[in-house]
Amino acid sequence: MWHKIPWEYIPENGNIKKARIAGKIICLIKQEDKLYATAVKCPHAGADLTQGWCDSRYLICPYHRHAFDLQTGRGLPHQGNYINIYPIESRKNGYYIAIKPSLWKRLFP
Ligand code: FES
Repeated sequence: MWHKIPWEYIPENGNIKKARIAGKIICLIKQEDKLYATAVKCPHAGADLTQGWCDSRYLICPYHRHAFDLQTGRGLPHQGNYINIYPIESRKNGYYIAIKPSLWKRLFP
């Protein structure tokens, strides 16, 4: 399901923001004028990825420097981990993010 991202959550180019959209906490990243949305929690030891930074096309975790590809969510090969990536669409009236409803909400709407 697509949800419009409120403008106040859109980070400036090169920055990262935490956003709550459709009940989910999301990490929004603007890198080279493109918006990306990822999970907030690092799969390695749970660090908050919104406290990290970007290096080219990678999001870097602030705790132990694991790097995740902004387009695929894949960690570097030696890491053996990944983060969820959410599809983003740029439309005439703003950015939209695709978030699947939780299993609970699908079972009990
Ligand atoms: S918690 Fe992110 S790399 Fe360790």
